[in-house]
Amino acid sequence: MESKRVATLTLDDGRTIELPIFSGTLGPDVIDIRALGKLGVFTYDPAFFSTSSCTSEITFIDGDAGLLYYRGYPIEQLAEKSDFLEVCYLLLNGELPTAEQRAQFNQSITHHTMVHDQLARFFNGFRRDAHPMAVMVGVVGALSAFYHDSLDITDAHHRTVSAQRLLAKVPTIAAMTHKYSVGEPFMYPKNKLGFVENLMYMMFATPADDYVPNPVLVRALERILILHADHEQNASTSTVRLAGSSGANPFACIASGIAALWGPAHGGANEAALKMLEEIGDVSRVAEYVQGVKDKKYKLMGFGHRVYKNMDPRASVMRQTCYEVLKEQKLENDGLFELAMVLEKTALSDPYFIERKLYPNVDFYSGIVLRALGIPSNMFTVIFAVARTIGWVSQWNEMISDSEYKIGRPRQLYRGAVRRDFVPVAKR
Ligand code: CMC
Repeated sequence: MESKRVATLTLDDGRTIELPIFSGTLGPDVIDIRALGKLGVFTYDPAFFSTSSCTSEITFIDGDAGLLYYRGYPIEQLAEKSDFLEVCYLLLNGELPTAEQRAQFNQSITHHTMVHDQLARFFNGFRRDAHPMAVMVGVVGALSAFYHDSLDITDAHHRTVSAQRLLAKVPTIAAMTHKYSVGEPFMYPKNKLGFVENLMYMMFATPADDYVPNPVLVRALERILILHADHEQNASTSTVRLAGSSGANPFACIASGIAALWGPAHGGANEAALKMLEEIGDVSRVAEYVQGVKDKKYKLMGFGHRVYKNMDPRASVMRQTCYEVLKEQKLENDGLFELAMVLEKTALSDPYFIERKLYPNVDFYSGIVLRALGIPSNMFTVIFAVARTIGWVSQWNEMISDSEYKIGRPRQLYRGAVRRDFVPVAKR
């Protein structure tokens, strides 16, 4: 990268350095501080408030304007007009597929959905009441012990095969995780079904009954998957990139992403938001609960975002999906949805939230939709992981494809003990 623009930094001892300024196609400029080490100093930015960790061409967010684009396409258009597998192709390859590419991709993903039969035995090692995300971390990580023929990360074909395997098999593992926790037999994937229908079939069908997925609910789940598919350099994606930068295999990297996603500040927020609504229980308790948030006793789950300082565009689509699903399920008078609307309205008109620019994020509404689809709350973050797998794998592939990538290695501001001599235990 070349740049004619520079920022000049002068240290308190008078030493000066010129740092190049780069512009992206969209978004703020960045100052390239890589040369700072020559002066023997580093930057300090613990939670990455002001640090770009990479260049990327995949996803763009404008947090102030509330915009989200995948490869330049606004999320609202994709959620309305596209389907999840097409979005996966777009994220992975950079362009929307032609009809032929689309058919080939769908065929390939469909024919990778079965997992090695031996993999099913891993489940028996878990307690039935294990959190499904604990099972996901273990079983997805175990994929690297099965698919040795696609582990050469320097080979573009291997990377494509691994990416497709992950995209196809993570939903199967997710459904097996659900079946294991409810004590029902695993359901094999069915190739005649579409990607989302198949996920619902594997989760909800039993050998005893015919199961026909409801198209309105399929479309709602499809939207959830599209909305969660990628979100630039969030905590789990950065985890996947950092793990991958060491040369670790993609299955291990995605397992690390699942672990990072689990936390309530990230992917665990959908489960936490629903629990919060259940805990509030009634519209009459909203004011009291909001006061507790303002007193810093707890956070309002599903609210706030590191990047969005405006409405999360995914939340608007999700709210609309909420209406559609609740209508279809004849749950229009669903108390939790009504409660969520009142809570949203109360928070959005309160100075605490206005001053801090705290708006509902996608997970404020996704829990209500997932619940209406019949998905238990401990599976919500698993569904997020199914969706985000394509984002993780696309970002990982982008990093590995860059011939200049190096192992990620942050520095630190050391504030521990200075050098001292060991004292034998008798003298301590
Ligand atoms: N409820 C109440 N106060 C909040 C909230 C919230 N949800 N989020 C931020 N604040 C306050 C925070 O206490 C701080 O106040 P003060 O200036 O008085 O100290 C101020 O707003 C700035 O917040 P922050 O914690 O410095 O912001 P952050 O960028 O570090 O955190 C966040 C972002 C998403 C972790 C945080 O907003 C949060 O914990 N939200 C709830 C969890 C949640 O919904 N997460 C899902 C994110 S979207 C899905 C995903 O991408 O994973």
